[in-house]
Amino acid sequence: MNLHWKNKPEKINSLSLSDKKIINELNIYSSHKIKNILIKSDNTVGISSLLNSKAMNKINDSGGIKLIYIDPPYFTEKSQLMKKTKEEIVAYEDIYNHSLEDYLNEIYIQIKLLHSLLSNDGSIYVHVDYRTSSYIRIILDEIFGYKNLRGYIIWNVDNGAKSKKFWSNQHNDILVYSKSDKFIFNSSSKLLKTKYSESSLKTHFRKKDSDGRTYRERKINSKSYKYYAEDGKLVGSVWNDIKSMEANSPLMKEYTTYPTQKPISLLSRIISASSQKGDFIMDTYCGSGTSLATATNLNRNWIGIDQSEKAIKITESRLNKNYYRIV
Ligand SMILES: C[S@@+](CC[C@H](N)C(=O)[O-])C[C@H]1O[C@@H](n2cnc3c(N)ncnc32)[C@H](O)[C@@H]1O
Repeated sequence: MNLHWKNKPEKINSLSLSDKKIINELNIYSSHKIKNILIKSDNTVGISSLLNSKAMNKINDSGGIKLIYIDPPYFTEKSQLMKKTKEEIVAYEDIYNHSLEDYLNEIYIQIKLLHSLLSNDGSIYVHVDYRTSSYIRIILDEIFGYKNLRGYIIWNVDNGAKSKKFWSNQHNDILVYSKSDKFIFNSSSKLLKTKYSESSLKTHFRKKDSDGRTYRERKINSKSYKYYAEDGKLVGSVWNDIKSMEANSPLMKEYTTYPTQKPISLLSRIISASSQKGDFIMDTYCGSGTSLATATNLNRNWIGIDQSEKAIKITESRLNKNYYRIV
């Protein structure tokens, strides 16, 4: 079942959407030792140019792109302003002519191009909110196949309720799809663990080992397993333990003044779940560069794209110039 709207894009030709200058620069990158690339461009043009450049050979020789994370504008129909500035400085526009169709056109083309770029054993995470998640879910079903939905994550952003007139929205939706049946999921990563609740600790974790560590024992198929309280439990599809304030409070080290900046802990969980050290990850709406900085911390290679001058400047301030090329 597909979603239809007026002027839905039909054929997408990456060659006609690409830019010769960007292709030339990407061709130069392909013979360079450095793997990370930051592209300052409209993302449709950036990805199309990448697809038609020699850079793709270099990326594919390293195993291809295993993980795509995108956090596009949410169709707020507003200009998104930089924080903590005296005058109004626009970081990026999120208006789309006040037309949901225009917004979906961009997302549809983007996801189609990303699907062709992603490695066959790769995954995509699409971070949106209540305004558009239902539409984007159906677009992803069409392009990736509904059986390849691997997670529908509710991220509790943990802001106080703002409206007394109706229910305030306090969560974002992160839709996860794989390209095929084969995909990476590192369930044993510590970054996928969360604390047990007080009630669970009291009810189940009643034993202590000789080192004083609290644990519970469970029998599964007549085999006994030990679970230590300090290891935490594997998180499911509702993420309550990552606070948006980590990225949005001026008191926090990672705060950059870029609107809609996401926490490093959120990207750490996503990147460690769905890629391995040395893999390529990609973010075509990279904003302040959270995903790229996190990928660097976790020893992944990356490709980032954003068209906003402010975004690129802030992203650059978070990265070490010796480890990436800017196009
Ligand atoms: C929600 S923000 C991303 C925030 C980012 N995840 C972070 O942690 O800072 C969306 C970004 O998409 C960028 N953007 C919007 N449309 C774009 C387009 N067509 N091409 C490239 N970048 C685009 C905006 O400039 C903005 O930086």
